[in-house]
Amino acid sequence: MPEPVKMELRDTFNRKIDYIRVSVTDRCNLRCMYCMPPSGPPRCLKPSRILKTEKLLQFLEVARKYGLKKVRITGGEPLLRKDITEIVRAIRDIGVEDLSLTTNGQLLPLFAGRLRAAGLDRVNVSMDSLRPERYREITGGGDLQNVLRAIELAEAAGLAPVKINMIPIRGVNDDEVLEFAALTLKKDWHVRFIELMPVGKKPAARGASSLDGRRVTADELKAAIRAAGELFPMGRSGSSANFRLAGGRGVIGFISPMSDHFCDSCNRLRITAAGRIRPCLFSGCEVDIGAASSEKEMEQLLLYSVRSKEKGSLLQKGVPCGAMSQVGG
Ligand code: 5AD
Ligand code: SF4
Repeated sequence: MPEPVKMELRDTFNRKIDYIRVSVTDRCNLRCMYCMPPSGPPRCLKPSRILKTEKLLQFLEVARKYGLKKVRITGGEPLLRKDITEIVRAIRDIGVEDLSLTTNGQLLPLFAGRLRAAGLDRVNVSMDSLRPERYREITGGGDLQNVLRAIELAEAAGLAPVKINMIPIRGVNDDEVLEFAALTLKKDWHVRFIELMPVGKKPAARGASSLDGRRVTADELKAAIRAAGELFPMGRSGSSANFRLAGGRGVIGFISPMSDHFCDSCNRLRITAAGRIRPCLFSGCEVDIGAASSEKEMEQLLLYSVRSKEKGSLLQKGVPCGAMSQVGG
């Protein structure tokens, strides 16, 4: 039995921190256009640089004593980790209340049942088009059939509700927004429209080739969807503002890091594949979990990271982050 939780983590703005997103690899089997910096696909870490699972678990156990409730496993593509089922089981055993995983779905048909059996609660699956050829182009070679099967199998395995992440990009897939919204009429799925964020370390390097000018805001999306049917507000869950379509079964969510940032209620820390703690996707402060050699040191790193969590999206101040495959989407 996990020990009872005695403490909680509060940052200097009195936000309660009880959610950690863990990137378990920076490798990916896709090359999504919005994830790649203009300089091209980033070089992957050597396997020896990836944080050892044992250290990750030690750190999460310390965080659990400080009230960690929710863990999300991300990548790169987390299903590329051969030991992903063991990682899921071990995190489950720490005693978190909610354990989920973000995946591009390509390998999920093989893993859905095993992940559920290991204690995973839910999955978020990225799917940016319902047209096979377009999906292939956006993802740099992905197979839409795999994702559609993955979603069905995940649901059948009990990894529910399945959340689908869609990033509308003007002139690329924004003509499919209504089709995505309509998925929630027949299915219990959560379709979440995510505003495109800039990637690449230097703003200047983003230049004309970047997708920056093609962002579609949540307000535009809502207006387009409302023209087709009424949207009923359902409140927020984390970073998502949720709605239901009249007569719908599922949920439509809008995640707007650019136009409506949610820093005030941010409750998360991130751990990169290399084992560095990032208090915010856009902050530079990174401490190294791999360097901690005792529980006491892990605790110090945790407390230090929470204290250095900034308020106000650095993104809004124009600070971009590295590729999502490096920092964990
Ligand atoms: N903007 C917004 N979201 C992104 N993701 C990756 N790159 C970007 C970006 N540039 C998110 C996608 C994907 C998850 C892994 O990370 O939602 O589903
Ligand atoms: Fe696409 Fe996610 Fe892989 Fe980036 S990490 S290329 S967003 S699947």
